[in-house]
Amino acid sequence: MHVEVKHPLIGHKLTLVRDKTTGVKLFRELIGEITMFLAYEALRGIPTESIEVETPLAVAKGVRVKGEIVLVPILRAGVGMLDAVMDMVPNARVGFLGLYRDHETSLPVEYYAKLPPATPDAVAILIDPMLATAGSAVAAVSMLKKRGFETIVFVCIVSCPEGVARLEQTHPDVAIYTASIDDGLNASKYILPGLGDAGDRLFGTK
Ligand code: PRP
Ligand code: URA
Repeated sequence: MHVEVKHPLIGHKLTLVRDKTTGVKLFRELIGEITMFLAYEALRGIPTESIEVETPLAVAKGVRVKGEIVLVPILRAGVGMLDAVMDMVPNARVGFLGLYRDHETSLPVEYYAKLPPATPDAVAILIDPMLATAGSAVAAVSMLKKRGFETIVFVCIVSCPEGVARLEQTHPDVAIYTASIDDGLNASKYILPGLGDAGDRLFGTK
């Protein structure tokens, strides 16, 4: 299942984030702002339980979020989305998965994993700005499943048909939320039109 989240404000911010003249400060802010919209949709299905609270006048029926939410950015670019989701879910636990795409082969290389324990009703929100070949996302989901996570949602800013299809085929139980399914991949496996290298633009490394 995948959802391309459409909203005029997402479209506006995504256009700015794609613009090659957008500098590091604005790029970071925009990634955070788009992430909030996506996370709002991605978290719609999280479990809640009914509770009651006393207002100054009466008893009100309400809800509270039930179970753990675990945010998992894929290092390094996923870190650029983390603060935005933590602001929305301040009690969330956070795990980190280190993966980079080898420049020659475009295959993911694992270099770090630090995750909180997987409680039975935990929802893991995997975050990474880019879903290109899906090599990184497929590997990250497999790592989460191996550690016992059963409910996993993948949130990315820009994706492409190839990446969405591969992640859905390999892990059909993972819901994908994205601001855009772009045209496809170029010969170097970069998304077109995309936004370039998300990590480099977030951290100013080029
Ligand atoms: C980018 C991006 C994803 C991956 C997507 O990370 O943030 O993790 O590539 O490509 P894929 O779908 O083909 O695997 P990169 O490997 O450039 O590492 P970085 O975050 O450290 O810059
Ligand atoms: N990683 C990126 O940062 N950008 C792409 O277009 C593909 C992979």
